[in-house]
Amino acid sequence: MTQLQDNIVGIDAAIFMHPTTWKASGHVDNFSDPMIDNKDSQKRYRVDHLIEAYADELESAGKKDEAEQLIASMDALLAKSDFEGLKKLIEERNIKCSVSGTAHWSEVRQFNLMFSTQLGSVSEEASEIYLRPETAQGIFVNFLNVQKTGRLKIPFGIAQVGKAFRNEIVARQFIFRMREFEQMEMQFFIKPGTQKEWYEHWKETRMKWHLSLGIGADKYRFHDHVKLAHYADAACDIEYAFPMGFKEVEGIHSRTDFDLKNHQEFSRKKMTYFDTELNQHYIPYVIETSIGLDRTVLMVLSEAYQEEDLSTVDKKDNRVVLKFPPKLAPVKLAILPLVKKDGLPEIAKGILAECRGEFRCFYEEKDTIGKRYRRMDAIGTPFSVTVDYQTKDDQTVTIRYRDSMKQERVPLISVREIVEKQIL
Ligand code: GAP
Repeated sequence: MTQLQDNIVGIDAAIFMHPTTWKASGHVDNFSDPMIDNKDSQKRYRVDHLIEAYADELESAGKKDEAEQLIASMDALLAKSDFEGLKKLIEERNIKCSVSGTAHWSEVRQFNLMFSTQLGSVSEEASEIYLRPETAQGIFVNFLNVQKTGRLKIPFGIAQVGKAFRNEIVARQFIFRMREFEQMEMQFFIKPGTQKEWYEHWKETRMKWHLSLGIGADKYRFHDHVKLAHYADAACDIEYAFPMGFKEVEGIHSRTDFDLKNHQEFSRKKMTYFDTELNQHYIPYVIETSIGLDRTVLMVLSEAYQEEDLSTVDKKDNRVVLKFPPKLAPVKLAILPLVKKDGLPEIAKGILAECRGEFRCFYEEKDTIGKRYRRMDAIGTPFSVTVDYQTKDDQTVTIRYRDSMKQERVPLISVREIVEKQIL
């Protein structure tokens, strides 16, 4: 976002901000999810998660239409914040708690998702402060600092990567939903009235980026929000087909001037931009792209993970392999001397010295070559080179390709170039 575009800069804002920030942003009053408790198990559920899990069960049982109907009814009720209706829907469908197995439910209530703590040493002076539930507000409150020091002209964007914290009731599915997670967000500041075209622009641009990860278009879909967040006039998710179904990875939101206007009101500091072309002051509108870093990692892992049966008539065999595109693989090259003696480690360490400044390498002497290859498959290393006795004679090594498991003899001096070409 910051390197391949002309007009987007990065910042690193604070995690703790003045408590009023979260009043202005609407999170104190609105950042909540409808919850329901099972009276027998005391287990608390997010209403949408409870209903979605039941819809998944219906779908697995071949009742796709019924599942879709249920989700449509839920969306309609959520859009109207009709809590009684949601409870009725759960009761009518006889949706049960997975712990108690009963459908003995409480009323549906709102539950704020922010973590709070106290700022100040003396309790009378202390004020309630929140850990940021999104990184976006750090961008909004710094918007004019960045615009002025960066001499940025609308349209421009400010992006950041950072931790966000939410008191999720059900944190589950590995790193899909956590209470402490990492977001990569970008706020794109635009002229009021141009939000529809910029919203479409960012939908398209972000989908292109997703496809550039080497993941097929059939694995993604857009999901338009029915119930809009308190700040949005249009919003959608980019969903990926995780092993547990299509789920959100990224959100694209047309946030209007909601945030900047409220920060201006609560801080009593001007948040207006002077447009030299129009000779006019205004509060910009904002299109936001917000992607979860952990979810992206989970998506790339899900896509790459494969179990392969390599059995032959003589021997049973299999391997676990992470088929990361080489540019995403955490380790690019394994350097493996065939044995720990006779000068082979020294040659291998020479290759390591040549390559490690350019990309991440892994050097290993232990165990048989076969075992070492399998360990590299399991962490997704796309290339391994083996230094053997022939290397001493003719300065060649064996390069082994993770996906095809093919091996070929190449000159030792070309290893760095071969890998570099593949990881761009
Ligand atoms: N600033 C807008 C915003 O925060 P969001 O849809 O609530 O929007 C954006 O969150 C992204 O953050 C989501 O698409 C998801 O990838 C990630 N995310 C949200 N909650 C998460 C959680 N509890 N654990 C992991 N990732 C989460």
